[in-house]
Amino acid sequence: MDSILVKGNGPLNGVIPIAGAKNACLTLMPATLLSEEPLTLTNAPRLSDIRTMTSLLQSLGAEVSALQDGKVITMSSHGMLNPTADYDIVRKMRASNLVLGPLLARLGHAVVSLPGGCAIGARPMDIHIDALAALGAEIDLRDGYLHAKTQGGLKGAVHEMRFASVGATENFVMAATLAKGTSVLKNAAREPEIVDLVQCLRRMGAEIEGEGTSTITIQGVDRLRGATHPVVTDRIELGTYMLAPAICGGEVECLGGRIDLLAAFCEKLDEAGISVTETEKGLKVARRNGRVKAVNVVTEPFPGFPTDLQAQMMALLCTAEGTSVLEEKIFENRFMHAPELMRMGARIEVHGGHATVYGVEKLRGAPVMATDLRASVSLILAGLAAEGETVVSRVYHLDRGYERVEEKLLACGAHIERISGS
Ligand code: EPZ
Repeated sequence: MDSILVKGNGPLNGVIPIAGAKNACLTLMPATLLSEEPLTLTNAPRLSDIRTMTSLLQSLGAEVSALQDGKVITMSSHGMLNPTADYDIVRKMRASNLVLGPLLARLGHAVVSLPGGCAIGARPMDIHIDALAALGAEIDLRDGYLHAKTQGGLKGAVHEMRFASVGATENFVMAATLAKGTSVLKNAAREPEIVDLVQCLRRMGAEIEGEGTSTITIQGVDRLRGATHPVVTDRIELGTYMLAPAICGGEVECLGGRIDLLAAFCEKLDEAGISVTETEKGLKVARRNGRVKAVNVVTEPFPGFPTDLQAQMMALLCTAEGTSVLEEKIFENRFMHAPELMRMGARIEVHGGHATVYGVEKLRGAPVMATDLRASVSLILAGLAAEGETVVSRVYHLDRGYERVEEKLLACGAHIERISGS
């Protein structure tokens, strides 16, 4: 397993290109199952999660190929499809559950393994099941698999979710595009990745309104055509790299960044004393002056502060002036980066869903271990600002969601290198 060595090396200055969104691409790719015609995605990120989704779609019978060093993905599912998504792939990545809605809509049946829990929580599927059942699907759980089928195809319906689940919204919307009649999803998730999915489905001939709001209306159609769609900018990668100059000092321009993707996050940065300026090419970020100020953070569904930036924000607040409280309201176990940050001298108290961070002047480099995707990059950020060397192990977590992280940070003056593991 590879490790990454970082060493505090002073302020960072330069330009970082932001890739296409992992969490948009992971829902756009299963959309190919809805049509017999080819779907092409451009601006795709080069990540191990995308390769996992590629293997899953290929196991279902879709043709998937990556062009231009992985930035373009062409897919086609005109052939016979296998309705079963096996555990050995699904267990690697929860987003595999996003083939459930499309397979049901296209084939009228599907067998998808339960993803199983992961480091950050149990991650049940009840909201997905309720949403697809509302469209007429009969779903049984047997031997760790969801067995889903419909009698006579999906039928449009009005359904309100108990929680604005991102994945359940995506599964419902994709399934409803081919249902008979009109569907209305209430308490829908509003994330930019859902807006991106709807824009792609519309290019494919779907009739959908309300994306980005809590109510999405879908008029079912008989079939969808092929399309070419650019993946939206990754707002979580964007927010992660915006924190690099915030933690280290200096000034970094994130190419492709847009404030509308991260308004709540940018407000928190402003409160902490970090300036964010829109430029023609993206967002320029720098510390205003002196030490970062402590702020309180509560993670919420979009447009609130993103849970996927909570670990990275905690790394910033470890060296802030004052005491910060972070409340994690989306996942039940998403503070595993805290004990690793404490090995670097951070002062953090975790009680249930709350973490209290008492800012210290400086962190000290130490060997630490990545536990999940976003925790791994928070340790990299902390190491960039710490005195001495930090070695982050198990960086396979990092490679799931960040392409070429060393290259992007090296270009801004960071001291960072990958140590190949056995
Ligand atoms: C998506 O996961 C993202 N993943 C996650 O990003 C992100 O953290 C999450 O949305 C919240 O924004 C992808 O888009 C591939 P949810 P998803 O359904 O769809 C509970 C990353 O780091 N829940 O909105 O799985 C669930 O357990 C990843 O890139 C149920 O109880 O998130 C969680 O506590 C991590 N029952 C909460 O809702 C369900 O049926 C939010 O889950 C579904 C979810």
